[in-house]
Order: sequence, then structure tokens, then C-alpha cells
Amino acid sequence: MTATTTNSTAPADGLPSMLAYLARVLKTPTIGRCWEELAAQARDENWSHEEYLAAVLQRQVAERESAGTMMRIRTAHFPAVKTIEDFNLDHLPSLRRDVLAHLATGLFVAKAENVILLGPPGLGKTHLAIGLGVKAAHAGYSVLFDTANNWITRLADAHQAGRLEAELKKIRRYKLIIIDEVGYIPFDQDAANLFFQLIASRYEVGSVMVTSNLPFGRWGETFSDDVVAAAMIDRLVHHAEVLTLTGDSYRTRQRRELLAKQNRADRD
Ligand SMILES: Nc1ncnc2c1ncn2[C@@H]1O[C@H](COP(=O)(O)OP(=O)(O)OP(=O)(O)O)[C@@H](O)[C@H]1O
Ligand SMILES: [Mg+2]
Repeated sequence: MTATTTNSTAPADGLPSMLAYLARVLKTPTIGRCWEELAAQARDENWSHEEYLAAVLQRQVAERESAGTMMRIRTAHFPAVKTIEDFNLDHLPSLRRDVLAHLATGLFVAKAENVILLGPPGLGKTHLAIGLGVKAAHAGYSVLFDTANNWITRLADAHQAGRLEAELKKIRRYKLIIIDEVGYIPFDQDAANLFFQLIASRYEVGSVMVTSNLPFGRWGETFSDDVVAAAMIDRLVHHAEVLTLTGDSYRTRQRRELLAKQNRADRD
């Protein structure tokens, strides 16, 4: 819209409606909502014009960033709401807190580095992957989460429709993809090849986070091909943080604690 049309259609009945109108045209609803309250505060506290302008714009930027984060979290398709803050680190004493804190900054995504979470069932791999994904979304990176099986289905469908390259390109728009549960369901040769292409297409371009119950030495079993598995692992770990979790299943522990509580209640 040109300045001329803006002026010609702007309301003429005073400053408040002019500001409401300008905020609407600029698509900055927060400014429309906060200018008055901040103006009162500015008068009370003797802010300079520059300070007032900065405060108003800052409100709008904060609102937009938080809306962006919400949108990124929604479109990531996390299977549950899990946070790093809810993760009980005492249960996993071997997990290095400094490494986790570094990953939580999301900087690894800026560098297109990978994260591999390995360990037996119930140790919190999926929880950590979601929690770190949420942190990356907060840091401004787009994220997409799915199970290995669903990733393969997606690629196989695209391949069948003759648009695998386009699909890989589309996936590359996400700065971080999370592939959960590699190893639980074995892949046939075709699926393994598709998986390899996914990893290869992101090598040094976009981050991948993978969780698996199997150590790398056994990935050949899942991908029914030692050579493909080795080539894939080579690309994945070249720039990666590999976290190997050890300990007892959190699920079992919770069950044990519940049973113990019930037993105590029965005795009393
Ligand atoms: N250290 C922890 N602190 C808090 N909750 C935890 C912790 N570890 C696991 N949990 C919870 O226990 C449950 C199992 O964890 P999760 O699903 O992340 O395990 P997993 O390693 O992905 O297991 P699987 O290999 O079976 O998929 C989840 O509800 C998770 O939130
Ligand atoms: Mg899991």
C-alpha cells in the first residue's frame, strides 16, 4: 500500500484510532494493544521517545517470536509433550549434564550436526529427543519428528510416485529431523536404501537426531545390509554427539515404586 492510499483511507478521528489503524495495516496487533499502556508507563517513568519506541517494538517482536515457537512446536508433530526440565537427571548419572545443556542451546542445529541417542528401552531416549526438539524450536529452528517406520513409509510413497528427490528436498527445509526408534522394526533392502538416501541428503546440510535401542554394531541387522549400515553410520557420526544411555528402564522403576507403595498401603 502506498503512502498516498494509507493517508487517504486512514481515519481522521484522533490519535488512538489512527494508531489502531496503522497497527492493523502493519499487521502488528501487539502494538495496537500495548501502545497506550506503555505510553502511560513512559510518561510516569520519563522515558525518552527512543525508549518508548523500543519498548513498543520489543513487545511486538516478543509476541511474534513466541507465536513462531508455538507454530514450530505444533508442526514438529511431537508424539507427546516432554521437556528437558521434566527429565530426571538423577536417574541417568552417566549422562553428561554439560553435553545435554550444550545440546539444549540448539547450536548443533546451526552447525548441521547430529545427535544419536542409544540405549535399551525406557531410558528416556524419546523423552530427550522431544525435549531437545522443543529447545531447537524455541531457538528458531524448524523441526519434524517421526518414527523410523513412518519416515520410511513417507519416502517409499514418494519413491513409488516418482518424486523421491522432491520429497527429500522438502524434508531438507526442516533444520532438524528426529528419527525415533531405529532398530525395533527391521527394514528390507529397499527401505534401507531409502533410509540411506535420507541420511545422505542431509549430510553436512541439516541436522538429524536418531534414537535406537541397538548399538551401532548391530545396525546391520536392522538394515539387512552391513555395507549400507556402515556407510550410513559413517555419515551420521562424522559431526555428531553420540549419547549412550545406560541404566534401568524408567518405566520399570515407576512400576516398581508404585507396587512398593501399594504393598506398604496393604500392610498398613
Ligand atoms: N530420566 C527421566 N526422567 C523423567 N521421565 C523419564 C525419564 N526417563 C524416562 N522417562 C519417562 O519414562 C517413559 C519412557 O521413556 P521414553 O519413552 O523416553 O524411553 P525410550 O528410551 O524412548 O524407550 P523405548 O526404547 O522403549 O522407546 C516416558 O514416559 C518418559 O517421559
Ligand atoms: Mg522411545
